[in-house]
Amino acid sequence: MRQVIAGNWKMNGLTADAEALTQALRDGLVKAPTGAVVVVFPPFTQVATVGRILAGSGIAWGGQDCHIAERGAHTGDIAPEMLRDLGATHVILGHSERRRDHGELDETVREKTVAALKAGLIPIVCVGESEDQRAGGQQQDTVGWQIKGSLPDGFGGADGSGGIVAYEPVWAIGTGRTATVEDIAAMHGFVRAELVRQMGETAGRGIRILYGGSVNAGNAASILAVPEVSGALVGGASLKPADFLTIVSAAT
Ligand code: G3P
Repeated sequence: MRQVIAGNWKMNGLTADAEALTQALRDGLVKAPTGAVVVVFPPFTQVATVGRILAGSGIAWGGQDCHIAERGAHTGDIAPEMLRDLGATHVILGHSERRRDHGELDETVREKTVAALKAGLIPIVCVGESEDQRAGGQQQDTVGWQIKGSLPDGFGGADGSGGIVAYEPVWAIGTGRTATVEDIAAMHGFVRAELVRQMGETAGRGIRILYGGSVNAGNAASILAVPEVSGALVGGASLKPADFLTIVSAAT
């Protein structure tokens, strides 16, 4: 299974920044083609710009969230169809920053995941424990419940290609405190076992599990080599073209 390297730009990028970053990625991957799936997630305001530059490049793009409804009276929200309309193929759902800033619960994330799948988007559903939960030894319980609550029946499709899970320990996001490869191996092994238990053997084994949390140019190769790590969801380092391209080059 090809690894997925996803760049979550979060709330960063005016037009000139987005254009420069996207063009640098496009040029970089022409020079050093990759076998990995590369997807970038600009803020909504830059999705169209990024899509125009990436069209035909082999690099995919997506949104950082979407609404449950197809349209209607939801001021400030974006429907999955609107992302599809801009050529997006993926959407990040249930990121811990959405859970924290917008009070998103597992049930909302599940409904958004259903809506995204219905619109033909591949959802990347984020799970991960907080620092307190990790300190209390509750990381597996927390993530197990998040998987149960956030992923709808049929997630992953018949062969796992219809959905991606990202394990992002909250304490490792934007902190420079990457989880150790042992911690990552343990949690990814646990997530795999839960996916198989909850989705069945075929879908459960086919779902990619990305790691996110302070992935950078220096640690990407060792993280991407961990068993059951099917790629990375990269925040800060995805804003630096050279770093992101190094991470992409470490993927298989
Ligand atoms: O979604 C990516 C993420 O939350 C990790 O961010 O900045 O720690 O790579 P960062």
